[in-house]
Amino acid sequence: MRVALSSGWDFLFPTSVEPAGAGRASFQQRLRPLKKRTRGPQGRLIVVSNRLPFAFSRAPGGRWRAEPASGGLVTALLPVLRNRGGTWVGWPGSPGTAKEFGAALGAVSREAGYKLVGVPLDEAEVRDFYLGFSNEAIWPLFHDLPSLCNFDAAYWRTYCKVNQKYARAVHARADARTLVWVHDYHLMNLAAELRAAGSRARLGFFLHIPFPAPDIFLKLPWRKPLLQALLRFDLLGFQTARDRRNFAACVQAAGLEARGTLVGDFPISIDFNAFMRRAAAPDVAAKAQELHRLLPNRRLILGIDRLDYTKGIPLRLAAFQHLLARHPEMRGRVSLMQVVVPSREDIGQYHRLRTEIEQLVGKINGAYARPGGWVPVWYEYRNLSRLELLAYYRAADIALVTPLKDGMNLVAKEYCACSIEEDCVLILSEFAGAAAQLAPDALLVNPYDVEGVAAAIREAYAMPAAERAARMRRIRRSIRRQDVFWWVDSYLRAAITKDLRAFPRAGADADEMPELQLPL
Ligand code: F6P
Repeated sequence: MRVALSSGWDFLFPTSVEPAGAGRASFQQRLRPLKKRTRGPQGRLIVVSNRLPFAFSRAPGGRWRAEPASGGLVTALLPVLRNRGGTWVGWPGSPGTAKEFGAALGAVSREAGYKLVGVPLDEAEVRDFYLGFSNEAIWPLFHDLPSLCNFDAAYWRTYCKVNQKYARAVHARADARTLVWVHDYHLMNLAAELRAAGSRARLGFFLHIPFPAPDIFLKLPWRKPLLQALLRFDLLGFQTARDRRNFAACVQAAGLEARGTLVGDFPISIDFNAFMRRAAAPDVAAKAQELHRLLPNRRLILGIDRLDYTKGIPLRLAAFQHLLARHPEMRGRVSLMQVVVPSREDIGQYHRLRTEIEQLVGKINGAYARPGGWVPVWYEYRNLSRLELLAYYRAADIALVTPLKDGMNLVAKEYCACSIEEDCVLILSEFAGAAAQLAPDALLVNPYDVEGVAAAIREAYAMPAAERAARMRRIRRSIRRQDVFWWVDSYLRAAITKDLRAFPRAGADADEMPELQLPL
């Protein structure tokens, strides 16, 4: 099982262990009015993302092994994919030809109840399209870190070529009644390629990462073709109103016009009920208690992130160090459990970041740990099992979620869903998309403000139980109401009815009507 932690969408529960639960049922109920409203024969749904929701790898003996790589999004999409004879198009995650993957994809499709179509990528394409343009140019740029960008023209050329490849796979399967839902920054050219090929399908896009302000975005050498390509979608979905407004400002700054493209903000979420139910299970409770036994008589602060420079881990460690240095009375009273999940290990910056983090952990522990006694930072660099992940969430008294910039950050939402005793505090970066929704009740911090983050840890530590409970109750109510089913429902309503006024505005009360967002 793969549990890759991120702000993104592909790391919740593996589908294989996800029980059919209340969440799924309520989504189907909520879908009914949508069906009535749209009437007529239903079109098919094609979901497209860089990776398929199963990671294929060669098992010893040469057979393909398929591991479910996702849960929350897939669980939410499953009823729609099944009802509509749906298809998911994406990269199988390993080198291989279409012929090699054919039989394995067929077998997994039969099991999954929807069709999986693989877009095979060769090594050069993985290097220049995935690691290169997607993760060395767009990723740092869209996270406001332009100095980390590698704007290699060869990367851009391969990005265009690979987007064409995905478009061919989609076009062969889409007609005018098909809704194609494209996910994330790897595939921003897809609508342009599909339209160039003559596609008449309805085309929607959702960006899982932030969209930067014009002064950052306009540094991209291919800013105009990229914006023009995005404007070929019928519906563009962003995580927050800020991302949506940034996009509109970039379109304006580039002297472009948005004709016929709907733009909305749809904050992605989690399967709240599934997390809550699973976190309440006896094996999770026992493991959480074991953590408290191993780290007794102190409050546990949890940091849990995919290895990524956007997650702000070195600054978080600096804040914790500042707390211990300035407030000796906190020594021995708190421990930071910092879990870093391996990611994108073929990119040099990620290697350097790991070294930096491990040096900082060593420095803090070197200064304050005592033999047989308290160790300030418990650091782990590995994938967690699902049971461990839930137990860590349950055991932590304080979560420190301090990305420098993040599309949403589902760790924040998962942590709160698992905090079933409602006796804990979320410290959250104001630059995470989740802050727009959880702001009043999470302790918001500027992750660059080391002293401010240290002060927030003290505030969380000293917060009276009644206040902790009241804040956590409100946060959990909000996440439960706007869960991943609500997210899929909202997006599909917008894509199908073409009317943003017909569904709730992101971040606002779920029953409220949205502000008019059309045209850009
Ligand atoms: O947040 C964007 C995202 O692509 C997520 O969908 C994913 O979980 C994460 O980044 C890491 O993705 P990958 O391992 O495919 O680069």
